[in-house]
Amino acid sequence: MTAPAQALLTAEDDFPAFRAAARSWLSRGVAPHDVQWRVAPPAGEAGDLFTALASGPETLPASTSLSAPLPSVPRAMLERFALASLHRDPGRFDLLYRVLWRLAREPGLRDDPLDPDLAQVHRLARSVSRDVHKMHAFVRFRPVHGESPGEDVIHVAWFEPDHHIVREAAPFFARRFTTLRWAILTPECSVRWDGETLHHGPGAEREDAPGPDDGEALWLAYYQNTFNPARLKIATMTREMPRRYWHNLPEAALIAPLTDAAAERTGAMLSAEAAAPRRARPWVRLQPEGALALGDPDLPAALRVPLPVGLGGLRTAANACRDCPIGEHATQVVFGEGPRDAGLMVVGEQPGDQEDLRGRAFVGPAGQLLAQAMKELGWSRERLYLTNAVKHFKFEPRGKRRMHKTPGQREVEACLPWLEREIALVSPRALVALGATAARALLGAPVPVQEVRGQWLARPDGLQVLVTLHPAALLRATDGQPGRGFDQWLEDLRQAEAFALA
Ligand code: URA
Repeated sequence: MTAPAQALLTAEDDFPAFRAAARSWLSRGVAPHDVQWRVAPPAGEAGDLFTALASGPETLPASTSLSAPLPSVPRAMLERFALASLHRDPGRFDLLYRVLWRLAREPGLRDDPLDPDLAQVHRLARSVSRDVHKMHAFVRFRPVHGESPGEDVIHVAWFEPDHHIVREAAPFFARRFTTLRWAILTPECSVRWDGETLHHGPGAEREDAPGPDDGEALWLAYYQNTFNPARLKIATMTREMPRRYWHNLPEAALIAPLTDAAAERTGAMLSAEAAAPRRARPWVRLQPEGALALGDPDLPAALRVPLPVGLGGLRTAANACRDCPIGEHATQVVFGEGPRDAGLMVVGEQPGDQEDLRGRAFVGPAGQLLAQAMKELGWSRERLYLTNAVKHFKFEPRGKRRMHKTPGQREVEACLPWLEREIALVSPRALVALGATAARALLGAPVPVQEVRGQWLARPDGLQVLVTLHPAALLRATDGQPGRGFDQWLEDLRQAEAFALA
Protein backbone atom coordinates (compact mmCIF):
# COMPACT_ATOMS: atom_id res chain seq x y z
CA MET A 1 0.00 0.00 0.00
CA THR A 2 1.41 3.43 -0.92
CA ALA A 3 1.42 6.26 1.62
CA PRO A 4 -1.18 8.96 1.06
CA ALA A 5 -0.07 12.10 -0.77
CA GLN A 6 0.26 15.24 1.33
CA ALA A 7 -1.76 18.34 0.62
CA LEU A 8 -0.03 21.18 2.38
CA LEU A 9 -1.86 24.36 3.38
CA THR A 10 0.12 27.38 4.46
CA ALA A 11 -2.36 28.85 6.98
CA GLU A 12 -4.77 27.38 9.52
CA ASP A 13 -7.55 29.75 8.47
CA ASP A 14 -7.18 29.89 4.70
CA PHE A 15 -10.40 28.25 3.53
CA PRO A 16 -10.14 29.71 -0.01
CA ALA A 17 -6.74 27.96 -0.39
CA PHE A 18 -8.21 24.67 0.83
CA ARG A 19 -11.14 25.08 -1.56
CA ALA A 20 -8.88 25.71 -4.55
CA ALA A 21 -6.59 22.81 -3.65
CA ALA A 22 -9.52 20.46 -2.97
CA ARG A 23 -11.02 21.33 -6.34
CA SER A 24 -7.79 20.50 -8.04
CA TRP A 25 -7.38 17.14 -6.22
CA LEU A 26 -11.06 16.25 -6.71
CA SER A 27 -10.91 17.02 -10.41
CA ARG A 28 -8.04 14.56 -10.67
CA GLY A 29 -10.08 11.95 -8.84
CA VAL A 30 -7.79 11.66 -5.81
CA ALA A 31 -9.74 9.61 -3.25
CA PRO A 32 -9.92 10.79 0.40
CA HIS A 33 -7.84 7.85 1.66
CA ASP A 34 -5.10 8.80 -0.82
CA VAL A 35 -4.60 12.35 0.45
CA GLN A 36 -3.69 13.77 3.82
CA TRP A 37 -4.30 17.46 4.60
CA ARG A 38 -1.79 19.27 6.73
CA VAL A 39 -1.09 22.87 7.69
CA ALA A 40 2.52 24.03 7.64
CA PRO A 41 3.71 25.59 10.89
CA PRO A 42 4.49 29.32 10.77
CA ALA A 43 7.74 30.28 9.03
CA GLY A 44 10.70 29.64 11.28
CA GLU A 45 8.96 26.85 13.17
CA ALA A 46 8.81 24.36 10.30
CA GLY A 47 10.45 21.06 11.07
CA ASP A 48 12.28 18.85 8.58
CA LEU A 49 9.13 17.03 7.58
CA PHE A 50 7.38 20.19 6.46
CA THR A 51 10.41 21.58 4.73
CA ALA A 52 10.57 18.34 2.73
CA LEU A 53 6.88 18.43 1.95
CA ALA A 54 6.83 22.04 0.96
CA SER A 55 9.65 21.63 -1.48
CA GLY A 56 9.09 18.02 -2.56
CA PRO A 57 7.59 17.02 -5.92
CA GLU A 58 3.87 16.47 -5.98
CA THR A 59 3.21 12.81 -6.76
CA LEU A 60 -0.28 11.82 -7.73
CA PRO A 61 -1.65 8.70 -6.07
CA ALA A 62 -2.70 5.59 -8.00
CA SER A 63 -6.43 6.42 -7.83
CA THR A 64 -5.97 9.45 -10.11
CA SER A 65 -8.35 9.72 -13.05
CA LEU A 66 -8.70 12.49 -15.58
CA SER A 67 -12.46 13.08 -15.60
CA ALA A 68 -13.59 12.84 -11.98
CA PRO A 69 -16.93 14.41 -10.97
CA LEU A 70 -16.93 17.66 -8.97
CA PRO A 71 -19.55 18.24 -6.27
CA SER A 72 -22.06 21.03 -6.45
CA VAL A 73 -22.23 22.56 -2.98
CA PRO A 74 -25.13 24.82 -1.95
CA ARG A 75 -24.11 28.22 -0.60
CA ALA A 76 -25.32 27.62 2.96
CA MET A 77 -23.37 24.36 3.11
CA LEU A 78 -20.27 26.07 1.78
CA GLU A 79 -20.54 28.71 4.51
CA ARG A 80 -20.80 25.93 7.09
CA PHE A 81 -17.70 24.28 5.60
CA ALA A 82 -15.85 27.59 5.82
CA LEU A 83 -16.70 27.86 9.53
CA ALA A 84 -15.82 24.20 10.22
CA SER A 85 -12.46 24.73 8.51
CA LEU A 86 -11.54 27.16 11.33
CA HIS A 87 -11.90 24.49 14.02
CA ARG A 88 -8.69 23.52 15.77
CA ASP A 89 -9.33 19.81 15.06
CA PRO A 90 -6.32 18.78 12.89
CA GLY A 91 -8.51 16.30 10.98
CA ARG A 92 -10.99 18.92 9.80
CA PHE A 93 -9.60 19.29 6.27
CA ASP A 94 -9.59 15.48 5.81
CA LEU A 95 -13.23 15.47 6.92
CA LEU A 96 -14.21 18.30 4.58
CA TYR A 97 -12.41 16.70 1.65
CA ARG A 98 -14.13 13.38 2.36
CA VAL A 99 -17.54 15.07 2.41
CA LEU A 100 -16.80 16.91 -0.85
CA TRP A 101 -15.70 13.65 -2.45
CA ARG A 102 -18.89 11.92 -1.28
CA LEU A 103 -21.13 14.81 -2.35
CA ALA A 104 -19.85 14.32 -5.90
CA ARG A 105 -20.84 10.64 -5.80
CA GLU A 106 -23.83 10.34 -3.44
CA PRO A 107 -26.71 12.49 -4.74
CA GLY A 108 -28.83 12.08 -1.56
CA LEU A 109 -26.04 12.95 0.85
CA ARG A 110 -26.57 16.68 1.13
CA ASP A 111 -30.12 16.09 2.44
CA ASP A 112 -29.19 13.39 4.92
CA PRO A 113 -29.16 14.99 8.38
CA LEU A 114 -28.07 11.72 10.03
CA ASP A 115 -24.92 11.19 8.02
CA PRO A 116 -22.06 11.06 10.56
CA ASP A 117 -19.64 13.08 8.39
CA LEU A 118 -22.15 15.85 7.81
CA ALA A 119 -23.15 15.81 11.47
CA GLN A 120 -19.48 16.24 12.41
CA VAL A 121 -19.13 19.21 10.02
CA HIS A 122 -22.18 20.73 11.75
CA ARG A 123 -20.65 20.21 15.16
CA LEU A 124 -17.36 21.82 14.18
CA ALA A 125 -19.10 24.79 12.52
CA ARG A 126 -21.33 25.34 15.57
CA SER A 127 -18.40 25.29 17.92
CA VAL A 128 -16.48 27.80 15.75
CA SER A 129 -19.51 30.05 15.46
CA ARG A 130 -19.86 30.03 19.26
CA ASP A 131 -16.20 30.94 19.62
CA VAL A 132 -16.62 33.90 17.22
CA HIS A 133 -19.63 35.05 19.19
CA LYS A 134 -17.70 34.83 22.46
CA MET A 135 -14.80 36.78 20.99
CA HIS A 136 -17.19 39.54 19.91
CA ALA A 137 -18.64 39.64 23.40
CA PHE A 138 -15.56 39.24 25.59
CA VAL A 139 -12.78 41.22 23.97
CA ARG A 140 -11.88 44.04 26.39
CA PHE A 141 -9.78 46.86 24.95
CA ARG A 142 -7.48 48.94 27.10
CA PRO A 143 -6.15 52.28 25.89
CA VAL A 144 -2.44 52.71 25.21
CA HIS A 145 -1.31 56.30 24.89
CA GLY A 146 1.28 57.13 22.24
CA GLU A 147 4.82 58.13 23.13
CA SER A 148 4.44 61.69 21.92
CA PRO A 149 1.60 63.96 22.97
CA GLY A 150 -1.15 64.23 20.43
CA GLU A 151 -0.49 60.77 19.01
CA ASP A 152 -3.68 58.76 18.61
CA VAL A 153 -4.56 56.43 21.45
CA ILE A 154 -4.54 52.78 20.42
CA HIS A 155 -6.87 50.34 22.16
CA VAL A 156 -5.31 46.93 22.67
CA ALA A 157 -6.96 43.70 23.79
CA TRP A 158 -5.69 40.25 24.66
CA PHE A 159 -7.87 37.26 23.78
CA GLU A 160 -7.41 33.48 23.64
CA PRO A 161 -9.82 31.96 21.15
CA ASP A 162 -10.41 28.22 21.03
CA HIS A 163 -10.23 28.06 17.25
CA HIS A 164 -8.57 29.84 14.31
CA ILE A 165 -11.15 32.59 14.23
CA VAL A 166 -9.31 35.91 14.39
CA ARG A 167 -9.61 36.66 10.66
CA GLU A 168 -13.29 35.67 10.75
CA ALA A 169 -14.10 37.72 13.87
CA ALA A 170 -12.08 40.87 13.08
CA PRO A 171 -14.44 42.66 10.62
CA PHE A 172 -17.05 42.92 13.39
CA PHE A 173 -14.65 45.07 15.45
CA ALA A 174 -13.76 47.19 12.41
CA ARG A 175 -17.46 47.95 11.92
CA ARG A 176 -18.13 48.49 15.60
CA PHE A 177 -15.06 50.62 16.37
CA THR A 178 -14.47 52.23 12.98
CA THR A 179 -13.09 55.49 14.30
CA LEU A 180 -10.76 54.00 16.90
CA ARG A 181 -7.31 52.57 16.34
CA TRP A 182 -7.22 49.13 17.91
CA ALA A 183 -5.36 45.84 17.99
CA ILE A 184 -6.32 42.40 19.23
CA LEU A 185 -3.46 40.14 20.28
CA THR A 186 -3.85 36.38 20.52
CA PRO A 187 -1.29 33.60 21.01
CA GLU A 188 -1.59 32.53 17.37
CA CYS A 189 -1.88 35.82 15.50
CA SER A 190 -2.81 39.46 15.89
CA VAL A 191 -4.98 41.92 14.03
CA ARG A 192 -4.73 45.69 13.92
CA TRP A 193 -7.16 48.33 12.61
CA ASP A 194 -5.69 51.68 11.48
CA GLY A 195 -9.03 53.30 10.76
CA GLU A 196 -9.14 52.03 7.18
CA THR A 197 -7.62 48.59 6.87
CA LEU A 198 -7.25 45.44 8.92
CA HIS A 199 -3.65 44.24 9.20
CA HIS A 200 -2.91 40.67 10.26
CA GLY A 201 0.32 39.85 12.03
CA PRO A 202 2.06 37.25 14.17
CA GLY A 203 0.94 35.98 17.56
CA ALA A 204 1.82 37.67 20.83
CA GLU A 205 2.24 37.04 24.54
CA ARG A 206 -0.24 38.15 27.16
CA GLU A 207 2.47 40.46 28.56
CA ASP A 208 2.46 42.39 25.26
CA ALA A 209 -1.06 43.64 26.06
CA PRO A 210 -1.54 46.58 28.43
CA GLY A 211 -2.61 46.26 32.05
CA PRO A 212 -5.58 47.95 33.73
CA ASP A 213 -5.96 51.73 33.50
CA ASP A 214 -8.06 54.40 35.23
CA GLY A 215 -10.90 53.76 32.82
CA GLU A 216 -11.00 50.14 33.86
CA ALA A 217 -11.53 51.05 37.50
CA LEU A 218 -14.47 53.03 36.26
CA TRP A 219 -15.86 50.14 34.26
CA LEU A 220 -15.52 47.83 37.27
CA ALA A 221 -17.31 50.32 39.47
CA TYR A 222 -20.06 50.57 36.88
CA TYR A 223 -20.35 46.78 36.58
CA GLN A 224 -20.60 46.50 40.33
CA ASN A 225 -23.19 49.25 40.48
CA THR A 226 -25.43 47.77 37.81
CA PHE A 227 -25.22 44.19 39.10
CA ASN A 228 -28.71 43.18 40.16
CA PRO A 229 -28.56 40.44 42.81
CA ALA A 230 -32.27 39.62 42.39
CA ARG A 231 -31.66 38.68 38.77
CA LEU A 232 -28.69 36.43 39.45
CA LYS A 233 -28.90 33.10 37.61
CA ILE A 234 -25.57 31.41 37.96
CA ALA A 235 -26.23 28.63 35.44
CA THR A 236 -27.29 31.10 32.74
CA MET A 237 -24.40 33.40 33.54
CA THR A 238 -21.78 30.67 33.28
CA ARG A 239 -23.37 29.37 30.09
CA GLU A 240 -23.24 32.84 28.54
CA MET A 241 -19.86 33.70 30.02
CA PRO A 242 -18.00 30.36 30.34
CA ARG A 243 -15.41 30.25 33.07
CA ARG A 244 -12.55 29.70 30.65
CA TYR A 245 -12.94 33.34 29.48
CA TRP A 246 -12.90 34.77 32.98
CA HIS A 247 -9.18 35.17 33.39
CA ASN A 248 -9.14 37.77 30.60
CA LEU A 249 -12.27 39.62 31.76
CA PRO A 250 -11.53 42.36 34.29
CA GLU A 251 -15.09 42.25 35.66
CA ALA A 252 -14.81 38.51 36.39
CA ALA A 253 -12.88 39.32 39.58
CA LEU A 254 -16.08 40.89 40.93
CA ILE A 255 -18.31 37.92 40.21
CA ALA A 256 -17.44 35.88 43.31
CA PRO A 257 -17.92 38.71 45.85
CA LEU A 258 -21.07 39.93 44.11
CA THR A 259 -22.65 36.48 43.87
CA ASP A 260 -21.66 35.66 47.46
CA ALA A 261 -23.48 38.75 48.69
CA ALA A 262 -26.44 38.33 46.31
CA ALA A 263 -28.77 36.38 48.60
CA GLU A 264 -28.33 38.84 51.45
CA ARG A 265 -28.84 41.86 49.18
CA THR A 266 -31.95 40.30 47.61
CA GLY A 267 -33.38 39.73 51.09
CA ALA A 268 -32.79 43.39 51.94
CA MET A 269 -34.43 44.45 48.67
CA LEU A 270 -37.49 42.30 49.37
CA SER A 271 -37.97 43.66 52.85
CA ALA A 272 -37.47 47.29 51.80
CA GLU A 273 -40.43 49.48 50.90
CA ALA A 274 -41.37 49.70 47.23
CA ALA A 275 -39.88 52.73 45.53
CA ALA A 276 -41.15 54.63 42.53
CA PRO A 277 -39.77 53.38 39.20
CA ARG A 278 -36.52 55.10 38.34
CA ARG A 279 -34.67 56.01 35.21
CA ALA A 280 -32.00 53.34 34.75
CA ARG A 281 -29.76 55.15 32.32
CA PRO A 282 -26.02 54.61 32.70
CA TRP A 283 -24.71 57.87 33.98
CA VAL A 284 -21.52 59.48 35.12
CA ARG A 285 -20.93 62.92 36.61
CA LEU A 286 -17.88 64.68 37.89
CA GLN A 287 -18.83 66.02 41.32
CA PRO A 288 -17.65 69.52 42.20
CA GLU A 289 -15.97 68.13 45.31
CA GLY A 290 -13.82 65.99 43.08
CA ALA A 291 -15.35 62.51 42.91
CA LEU A 292 -16.90 60.69 40.01
CA ALA A 293 -20.47 59.62 40.54
CA LEU A 294 -21.74 56.71 38.50
CA GLY A 295 -24.97 54.86 38.03
CA ASP A 296 -28.38 56.47 38.17
CA PRO A 297 -28.50 60.02 39.56
CA ASP A 298 -31.86 59.32 41.19
CA LEU A 299 -30.51 56.44 43.18
CA PRO A 300 -29.29 57.42 46.61
CA ALA A 301 -26.58 54.79 46.27
CA ALA A 302 -25.19 56.21 43.03
CA LEU A 303 -21.64 55.08 43.30
CA ARG A 304 -18.82 57.50 43.98
CA VAL A 305 -15.35 56.77 42.70
CA PRO A 306 -12.85 58.93 44.49
CA LEU A 307 -10.42 61.06 42.56
CA PRO A 308 -7.67 61.49 41.61
CA VAL A 309 -8.53 60.10 38.25
CA GLY A 310 -5.83 60.83 35.66
CA LEU A 311 -6.45 62.40 32.27
CA GLY A 312 -6.97 58.93 30.74
CA GLY A 313 -9.64 58.02 33.28
CA LEU A 314 -11.23 61.42 32.91
CA ARG A 315 -11.52 60.93 29.16
CA THR A 316 -13.15 57.51 29.62
CA ALA A 317 -15.57 58.91 32.17
CA ALA A 318 -16.45 61.95 30.05
CA ASN A 319 -17.34 59.65 27.18
CA ALA A 320 -20.19 58.31 29.30
CA CYS A 321 -21.36 61.74 30.50
CA ARG A 322 -25.00 62.38 29.68
CA ASP A 323 -25.49 65.43 31.83
CA CYS A 324 -26.64 67.22 28.71
CA PRO A 325 -28.14 65.58 25.62
CA ILE A 326 -25.21 66.14 23.24
CA GLY A 327 -23.27 63.04 24.22
CA GLU A 328 -26.15 60.80 23.21
CA HIS A 329 -25.75 61.66 19.53
CA ALA A 330 -22.02 62.23 19.18
CA THR A 331 -19.71 59.46 18.01
CA GLN A 332 -17.40 59.76 20.97
CA VAL A 333 -15.99 62.20 23.47
CA VAL A 334 -13.24 64.45 22.13
CA PHE A 335 -11.08 65.09 25.13
CA GLY A 336 -8.16 67.47 25.37
CA GLU A 337 -4.70 66.32 24.38
CA GLY A 338 -1.17 67.43 25.02
CA PRO A 339 1.55 67.07 27.63
CA ARG A 340 0.60 66.90 31.30
CA ASP A 341 3.05 69.74 31.97
CA ALA A 342 2.06 72.04 29.07
CA GLY A 343 2.68 75.71 29.86
CA LEU A 344 -0.24 76.88 27.70
CA MET A 345 -3.72 75.42 27.39
CA VAL A 346 -5.70 76.46 24.31
CA VAL A 347 -9.45 76.11 24.71
CA GLY A 348 -11.90 76.02 21.80
CA GLU A 349 -15.66 75.73 21.72
CA GLN A 350 -16.54 72.14 20.90
CA PRO A 351 -15.35 69.43 18.50
CA GLY A 352 -16.53 69.63 14.91
CA ASP A 353 -17.55 66.88 12.51
CA GLN A 354 -13.99 65.68 11.81
CA GLU A 355 -12.99 65.84 15.44
CA ASP A 356 -16.04 63.82 16.42
CA LEU A 357 -15.20 61.09 13.92
CA ARG A 358 -11.50 60.92 14.75
CA GLY A 359 -11.76 61.52 18.48
CA ARG A 360 -9.14 64.29 18.42
CA ALA A 361 -9.45 68.02 19.00
CA PHE A 362 -8.66 70.52 16.23
CA VAL A 363 -8.11 68.20 13.29
CA GLY A 364 -10.81 69.66 10.98
CA PRO A 365 -10.77 72.95 9.00
CA ALA A 366 -10.63 75.21 12.08
CA GLY A 367 -7.85 73.02 13.46
CA GLN A 368 -5.93 73.36 10.22
CA LEU A 369 -6.10 77.14 10.48
CA LEU A 370 -4.89 76.89 14.05
CA ALA A 371 -2.05 74.62 12.87
CA GLN A 372 -1.12 77.20 10.23
CA ALA A 373 -1.07 79.92 12.88
CA MET A 374 1.09 77.79 15.16
CA LYS A 375 3.50 77.19 12.31
CA GLU A 376 3.81 80.92 11.61
CA LEU A 377 4.33 81.57 15.30
CA GLY A 378 6.92 78.81 15.60
CA TRP A 379 4.80 76.96 18.17
CA SER A 380 4.72 73.20 18.30
CA ARG A 381 1.36 71.47 18.78
CA GLU A 382 3.19 68.85 20.85
CA ARG A 383 4.07 71.47 23.50
CA LEU A 384 0.49 72.78 23.90
CA TYR A 385 -2.56 71.30 25.56
CA LEU A 386 -5.52 71.67 23.19
CA THR A 387 -9.04 71.20 24.45
CA ASN A 388 -12.60 72.46 24.22
CA ALA A 389 -15.20 73.93 26.54
CA VAL A 390 -17.66 71.24 25.41
CA LYS A 391 -16.41 67.70 24.88
CA HIS A 392 -19.05 66.26 22.54
CA PHE A 393 -20.05 67.42 19.05
CA LYS A 394 -23.39 69.23 18.88
CA PHE A 395 -24.91 69.17 15.41
CA GLU A 396 -28.09 69.31 13.43
CA PRO A 397 -28.54 66.69 10.70
CA ARG A 398 -29.15 68.22 7.28
CA GLY A 399 -29.50 65.50 4.69
CA LYS A 400 -26.36 63.45 5.01
CA ARG A 401 -24.40 66.31 6.58
CA ARG A 402 -24.07 67.17 10.24
CA MET A 403 -24.14 70.92 10.66
CA HIS A 404 -22.30 72.42 13.65
CA LYS A 405 -24.63 73.90 16.25
CA THR A 406 -23.36 76.28 18.92
CA PRO A 407 -23.72 74.69 22.36
CA GLY A 408 -26.16 76.34 24.72
CA GLN A 409 -25.16 77.77 28.09
CA ARG A 410 -26.65 74.79 29.92
CA GLU A 411 -24.50 72.45 27.86
CA VAL A 412 -21.38 74.51 28.49
CA GLU A 413 -22.14 74.44 32.21
CA ALA A 414 -22.73 70.70 32.18
CA CYS A 415 -19.27 70.25 30.65
CA LEU A 416 -17.51 72.73 32.93
CA PRO A 417 -16.45 70.20 35.62
CA TRP A 418 -14.52 68.25 32.96
CA LEU A 419 -12.73 71.37 31.73
CA GLU A 420 -11.94 72.57 35.24
CA ARG A 421 -10.58 69.14 36.19
CA GLU A 422 -8.41 69.18 33.07
CA ILE A 423 -7.06 72.61 34.07
CA ALA A 424 -6.40 71.33 37.60
CA LEU A 425 -4.53 68.26 36.34
CA VAL A 426 -2.46 70.00 33.66
CA SER A 427 -2.01 73.15 35.69
CA PRO A 428 -0.98 75.37 32.76
CA ARG A 429 0.70 78.72 33.37
CA ALA A 430 -1.81 80.49 31.10
CA LEU A 431 -4.90 79.85 29.01
CA VAL A 432 -6.05 80.96 25.56
CA ALA A 433 -9.79 81.25 24.97
CA LEU A 434 -10.70 80.84 21.31
CA GLY A 435 -14.06 82.54 20.89
CA ALA A 436 -16.96 83.50 23.11
CA THR A 437 -17.96 80.04 24.31
CA ALA A 438 -14.47 79.24 25.59
CA ALA A 439 -14.06 82.71 27.10
CA ARG A 440 -17.33 82.49 28.98
CA ALA A 441 -16.59 78.97 30.21
CA LEU A 442 -13.15 79.98 31.47
CA LEU A 443 -14.05 83.37 32.93
CA GLY A 444 -17.52 82.55 34.24
CA ALA A 445 -19.25 85.53 32.56
CA PRO A 446 -20.13 86.66 29.02
CA VAL A 447 -17.10 88.20 27.28
CA PRO A 448 -17.34 90.69 24.34
CA VAL A 449 -14.63 88.95 22.34
CA GLN A 450 -14.31 91.57 19.58
CA GLU A 451 -13.74 94.29 22.18
CA VAL A 452 -11.24 92.50 24.37
CA ARG A 453 -9.42 90.38 21.83
CA GLY A 454 -5.68 90.27 22.34
CA GLN A 455 -6.07 91.11 26.04
CA TRP A 456 -5.35 89.09 29.14
CA LEU A 457 -8.22 88.68 31.60
CA ALA A 458 -7.88 87.11 35.04
CA ARG A 459 -9.99 84.23 36.33
CA PRO A 460 -11.12 84.18 39.95
CA ASP A 461 -8.31 81.67 40.66
CA GLY A 462 -5.80 84.17 39.28
CA LEU A 463 -4.99 82.23 36.12
CA GLN A 464 -4.61 84.55 33.11
CA VAL A 465 -6.73 84.01 29.99
CA LEU A 466 -5.80 85.48 26.61
CA VAL A 467 -9.02 86.10 24.69
CA THR A 468 -9.14 85.94 20.92
CA LEU A 469 -11.33 84.85 18.02
CA HIS A 470 -12.20 81.29 17.24
CA PRO A 471 -10.53 80.10 14.00
CA ALA A 472 -13.94 79.07 12.63
CA ALA A 473 -15.05 82.71 12.96
CA LEU A 474 -12.11 83.75 10.76
CA LEU A 475 -13.01 81.13 8.19
CA ARG A 476 -16.68 82.16 8.25
CA ALA A 477 -15.98 85.89 8.00
CA THR A 478 -13.76 85.53 4.97
CA ASP A 479 -15.37 82.63 3.17
CA GLY A 480 -12.50 80.29 3.99
CA GLN A 481 -9.74 82.81 3.06
CA PRO A 482 -8.73 84.40 6.36
CA GLY A 483 -6.41 87.03 4.76
CA ARG A 484 -5.84 90.15 6.87
CA GLY A 485 -7.90 88.85 9.75
CA PHE A 486 -5.37 86.07 10.01
CA ASP A 487 -2.46 88.46 10.59
CA GLN A 488 -4.40 90.21 13.32
CA TRP A 489 -5.23 86.90 14.90
CA LEU A 490 -1.54 85.96 14.87
CA GLU A 491 -0.79 89.18 16.73
CA ASP A 492 -3.40 88.23 19.37
CA LEU A 493 -1.95 84.78 19.79
CA ARG A 494 1.63 86.08 19.90
CA GLN A 495 0.81 87.55 23.33
CA ALA A 496 0.97 84.01 24.70
CA GLU A 497 4.34 83.26 23.11
CA ALA A 498 6.25 83.10 26.42
CA PHE A 499 3.96 80.30 27.66
CA ALA A 500 3.72 78.43 24.37
CA LEU A 501 7.46 78.15 23.97
CA ALA A 502 8.19 77.51 27.65
N1 URA B 1 -13.54 73.88 16.84
C1 URA B 1 -13.26 73.81 18.17
O1 URA B 1 -13.57 74.70 18.94
N2 URA B 1 -12.62 72.74 18.61
C2 URA B 1 -12.25 71.74 17.82
O2 URA B 1 -11.68 70.76 18.32
C3 URA B 1 -12.53 71.85 16.45
C4 URA B 1 -13.18 72.93 15.98
